[in-house]
Amino acid sequence: MNITTPPTRTLHRLVELACRAPSVHNSQPWRWRVEDDRITLLADRARQLMRIDPDGRDLLLSCGAALHHLRVAALAEGYRCRVRRDPYGSSDNVLAIVELVAADVPTEAVAAAALIDQRRTDRRRFSSWAVPEHRLDELADAAAGEGVRAVPVTGQGMRRRLVEILSRASREQQFDWSAVDETAAWTGPRTTDGVPPENVPRRVDAERHADPVGTRYPSGTLVDDSDDHADPGYDASRLLVLCTDGDETTERLRAGEALSAVLLAATGQGLATVPLSQATEVHATRELLKREILLGVAIPQVVVRVGWRPVSYEPVPATPRRPLVEVLEV
Ligand SMILES: Cc1cc2nc3c(=O)[nH]c(=O)nc-3n(C[C@H](O)[C@H](O)[C@H](O)COP(=O)(O)O)c2cc1C
Repeated sequence: MNITTPPTRTLHRLVELACRAPSVHNSQPWRWRVEDDRITLLADRARQLMRIDPDGRDLLLSCGAALHHLRVAALAEGYRCRVRRDPYGSSDNVLAIVELVAADVPTEAVAAAALIDQRRTDRRRFSSWAVPEHRLDELADAAAGEGVRAVPVTGQGMRRRLVEILSRASREQQFDWSAVDETAAWTGPRTTDGVPPENVPRRVDAERHADPVGTRYPSGTLVDDSDDHADPGYDASRLLVLCTDGDETTERLRAGEALSAVLLAATGQGLATVPLSQATEVHATRELLKREILLGVAIPQVVVRVGWRPVSYEPVPATPRRPLVEVLEV
């Protein structure tokens, strides 16, 4: 394999696409160092959500998602990534060192990279169309490709229990004033980060939701008024729990890479998605997830909700990102 030095503008474009990754509260807790044929991903601890994410799980998942976006974008440009995750041990802010190696562009790589710009977090209710099992299997395969399990919670009883756990986490955070304040600080009129009101359903719609999805943020302006909702509260969304064997930096990064792989694969299938992390943020509900949903055999990292968007829905707008100069270290 030969290592060639990609042009700087290509490296910058790859970082830009990596930054389109989802992140908790759109906090974008990453920094990038670009040198010759190598891109280093660093954690930006100043952007960690200290109240809801004191041990940095969401931060690492977000950075892992950006790392996967980078790999997908690089392949479409003709570079395979050799990644060293957590090269200096967990206490260091360097999360991954990525070497770009010239490679042929696989036929599906360009289409895969195009999904980066199409993906959105969609917090509205989904339609009553069922998500077939084979679609969920494809999403689980996408996660497995990253060494992570995505467990579809399909049984009615188990799904109901998972929704109870999600609701409990949501309630616990609603009664924790510093968590409410922290979330409020990341929503509303920020310009290049945070969750804009245009991406959050109106409260009146969110409260008719089958799952505790739309209530994390203050009421937004996204309208959720499909005819498909004649039966309020009914939607046929499916829930997947992404889980790992261990809970160290590398496993959390990989969970983030798998989250990105699942979200992009779902986007490719035309499915709408939303990551749900409240139940993994609250200690008590994380334990319940582990014990009751994963039967004690794996560590839950994040829940993903997938479903079909009713055809009458307007597209969700893209959320803003910080400019490259703010995230690049020279
Ligand atoms: C680790 C992680 C946790 C997240 N948790 C939630 C959540 O609990 N609820 C939610 O509505 N969105 C959640 N999101 C989605 C982010 O809010 C979203 O990615 C961000 O606002 C950027 O918007 P976009 O995904 O449309 O680009 C999460 C994303 C990540 C990566």
